[in-house]
Amino acid sequence: SQASKLLVLPGDGIGPEVMREVAKLTQWLSTARGLRVEIAEELVGGASLARHGVPLRPEVVTLAKEADAVLFGSVGDPNWGHVAFDKRPEAAILGLRQALSLFANLRPAQVFPPLVSASTLKPEVIEGLDIMIVRETVGGVYFGEPRGIETLPDGTRRGVNTEVYTTPEIERVARVAFDLARLRGNRVCSVEKCNVMESGLLWKQVVSALHEREYPDVQLSHMLADNCAMQLVRNPKQFDVIVTGNLFGDILSDLASMLTGSLGMLPSATLGAVQENGKRHALYEPIHGSAPDIAGQGIANPLAQILSFAMLLRYSLKREDDARLIEQAVSNVLASGLRTADIMSEGMARVSTETMGAAVLQEMQKLA
Ligand code: NAD
Ligand code: IPM
Ligand code: MN
Repeated sequence: SQASKLLVLPGDGIGPEVMREVAKLTQWLSTARGLRVEIAEELVGGASLARHGVPLRPEVVTLAKEADAVLFGSVGDPNWGHVAFDKRPEAAILGLRQALSLFANLRPAQVFPPLVSASTLKPEVIEGLDIMIVRETVGGVYFGEPRGIETLPDGTRRGVNTEVYTTPEIERVARVAFDLARLRGNRVCSVEKCNVMESGLLWKQVVSALHEREYPDVQLSHMLADNCAMQLVRNPKQFDVIVTGNLFGDILSDLASMLTGSLGMLPSATLGAVQENGKRHALYEPIHGSAPDIAGQGIANPLAQILSFAMLLRYSLKREDDARLIEQAVSNVLASGLRTADIMSEGMARVSTETMGAAVLQEMQKLA
């Protein structure tokens, strides 16, 4: 079979640091396990701004469209905080999601048993946790019109963003959630604020109607977003699949990451529609950002990036065995007591980004 085309976009801050650890795994999988990938690497975000003057070049968008999968690091650089939104590093990830219509962002929050004690919550609250947040990623208040900052005649300034969702936008992401639920615990919780927002009310109506029409076998519940935030901390194991809009999904998934021990642990897959040839555009990204506060120190946790690569192998390259091998290796390394700073606890061995990556590779070699 042909080699799969992979586009690697390390981005800014800790992005390149954690991506380096993935590169070692890719190399070994290629030489030892017959993985056939053709890899292109490009600059995005602040790194692209510095070199090319824009956060995302059209050439990179073309490469992303042609790739079988994109592995994304993170973008964001405080040096570019003052420029217009379309020129900021973050425009790279927002632009890629738009250009490839990557509307469903799958954010699985699972607790590795050795990390139960790394969470700030009580062990019994999070032990065995396995939830999937399906976040809509190309609509909602992130992209709704009108938007902007205007100055009124009296000098008052007005910042405007608009939350918009249409029936097809809600249906396609809800389908992803229902389909996933059927493969897991068969329960979907749809989250909005229908008590305050028309877009939320429509969301609830459309999800309910779709459920009745096409997924009556799946258990559906509805929850207001503020309550959901509270319930995720109170009793997170009540959830199986959560489906929600762009902004609520962003916030709730950062919250959920702390159930697993650290933001540095949570991978994600951002998927487009299945096309006629059976393929779908897909981008894999940790949910964390460029972490400017720790960038350049070699202490970032590479596991979210590594686990995002495992998701890529599973969903886009159909290499379930390799995905499992990575996940088992991560689990074993954690069980052996190695910890990056963010998941460090008493009695464990604190290691660098590089040592953690090397340990995962070594464990994979042992297991294979
Ligand atoms: P962040 O996710 O970068 O960091 C939040 C906190 O978590 C920081 O204290 C950081 O040190 C820690 N952290 C994050 N990832 C870690 C890891 N792998 N290992 C250890 N610790 C980790 O969020 P922020 O500080 O709010 O944002 C920084 C920049 O990143 C901003 O420019 C923001 O827009 C951008 N951002 C980008 C993405 C993305 O590219 N997908 C996601 C989120 C934020
Ligand atoms: C994420 C990030 C992005 C988002 C930013 C960097 C645009 O926070 O991927 O979670 O808000 O979607
Ligand atoms: Mn986020």
